[in-house]
Amino acid sequence: MCGIVGYIGSKRAADIVIDGLKKLEYRGYDSAGVGLIENGKLEIIKKKGRVVNTEESIPKTFNGGVAIGHTRWATHGVPSDNNSHPHRSESIAVVHNGIIENYAVLKKELEEEGILFQSETDTEVIPHLIKSAISHSMSDIHKKKREACYLHAVLMAIKKLKGSYALAILNSDFPDTIVCVKKGSPLVVSKSESSVFVASDVEVASSHGKNVYILEDDEMVLLRSDEVSFFDMNGREKEKDPMEYISNESADGFAGNPHYMLKEIKEIPQAIHETAKSVENCFLKLPKWKLNKLKKIIIVGCGTAYHAGLSAKTILETHTGIPVANEIASEFRYSNPIIDKNTLVILVSQSGETADTIAALDIAKKKKALTLAVVNNATSALAMEADCKITTRAGKEIAVASTKAYNSQLVALYSFALYLSVVLRKINSQKARELKSKIMETTSISRQVIEMGLDKIDKTIIDIFKNEKAVMFLGRGVDYATAAEASLKLKEISYIHCESYPAGELKHGTIALIEEGYLVVAYLTDSLLKDKTLNALYEVKARGAKVFAITNQELPKDAYDYIYHVPSIGIFSPITSIIPMQIISYFTAIAKDYDPDKPRNLAKSVTVE
Ligand code: AGP
Ligand code: GLU
Repeated sequence: MCGIVGYIGSKRAADIVIDGLKKLEYRGYDSAGVGLIENGKLEIIKKKGRVVNTEESIPKTFNGGVAIGHTRWATHGVPSDNNSHPHRSESIAVVHNGIIENYAVLKKELEEEGILFQSETDTEVIPHLIKSAISHSMSDIHKKKREACYLHAVLMAIKKLKGSYALAILNSDFPDTIVCVKKGSPLVVSKSESSVFVASDVEVASSHGKNVYILEDDEMVLLRSDEVSFFDMNGREKEKDPMEYISNESADGFAGNPHYMLKEIKEIPQAIHETAKSVENCFLKLPKWKLNKLKKIIIVGCGTAYHAGLSAKTILETHTGIPVANEIASEFRYSNPIIDKNTLVILVSQSGETADTIAALDIAKKKKALTLAVVNNATSALAMEADCKITTRAGKEIAVASTKAYNSQLVALYSFALYLSVVLRKINSQKARELKSKIMETTSISRQVIEMGLDKIDKTIIDIFKNEKAVMFLGRGVDYATAAEASLKLKEISYIHCESYPAGELKHGTIALIEEGYLVVAYLTDSLLKDKTLNALYEVKARGAKVFAITNQELPKDAYDYIYHVPSIGIFSPITSIIPMQIISYFTAIAKDYDPDKPRNLAKSVTVE
């Protein structure tokens, strides 16, 4: 994870970099830091905690026009001032997003050369490797030559690294430059008339110039205020054209809400509407002749995106007759999957940047499967590299806990199931249209569910959740997928231990956890499986559990302690039945005095393994 920024121009670089870091804080908020060139000297200011801590420590007298910055999600070394980036070696400062997998070996070699390390991070090897490569190659020659030696030294250092990295490098010996290198982690450069800016995401980069360069793996770029030069890993200069990026995002901040998460829950109806309306255009670009030959579908994702795939399995299988498997991306990437050109691998990701999901895409491509990215970020690595893509239109999601992106992913995947079943002639277009109009209806239904939720989910309901040490979520079929997502939502922002289980599986071990007063949340929206889930409710109630049922069915009164009604939209019910738990999770975090937008230990985009 981590957010990187860099700026060279005529304005006060400290202000621009801090502003960029605040926008990138969703990527990590363990610590922050900036490296600045001030009167030709390298200055580093870095602090544990939020960006504002670093901001307050920057001397007002620092007015230089060159800086790099970092907001950290720690992988190696505790969050602390020392472990914050930039890391330095004399004149060189480096900010890094990624993991250097062979850092221990490199560190040992550098220590043997007499280098003293200041931090516990993997990153710190990088500035020392660059410095050491410079000392070996630099001689006192013409400036242009010296710069070539510097770039060569960066490449020499990079070649020793194993792992993933997006790097921005400052060197006070070349005070009007920033050098960036990318492999695995994202980096985007933007250029305006008199300045150049680099950031980890395209939205932030494009706020400083609509001409953007999205870096590819194994590219190095030398930035000056008036020039951007690209190189390959052999140091050969290469041409690269910018692309124009006009942001769709309104810069309306919280829009009157106390947190992004609440704002984003309220945006669910719009996200559903925009996705449902535009998704058909994406289908037009899919290769029908390949879809006709499919024998197998695998849906891959992490966290919420994985749950969206889980929820889509039933409708895809029942409407297309093609077997569907769900895979967690971090498992799939090392599983040597049995797939071929007749397999469709669907990669679901809000950010399109998740390292595990990108690695899963690589495996699927190597094995010649047809790959389809379902992404909310149309310019992300996943979107660019998959054979085809479906873009969800949730708009920017900033809160770490995903909400509107999930509802949109369900809309996209369910709509795709209908489209595929028409292509395969399993249902006719008329039937597909009828079903699609039901999906469209979820826009207004979600609006009602949100309004009702914000009205009904009061202190009495939150008191049921907020003091629990553990909560069990149950469901069967698609309701299990919803239960799994509900469980993730509550645990990640309220820090209550939550487990989700298929209701029928509970009796094979997990029911041992149930004791007097244990809270069980059960989803019952599928009429065919309702009675089966009810059996599990009676079983847990017989052992003293309190049951909170979320349902669109009539339930016997002795099967639950609390009941929360949601509307029925047949097979599309999961699109809206998750909403009450999204709202309950938000208000539970608030009641516990936690920041729902930035839960501990997490970051929005997981760009490391
Ligand atoms: C969701 O609330 C999580 N914070 C997390 O599980 C997330 O869904 C996961 O990291 C995948 O992210 P992606 O959709 O951007 O790939
Ligand atoms: N590995 C680096 C650190 O721990 C960067 C982490 C990241 O990009 O997530 O500081």
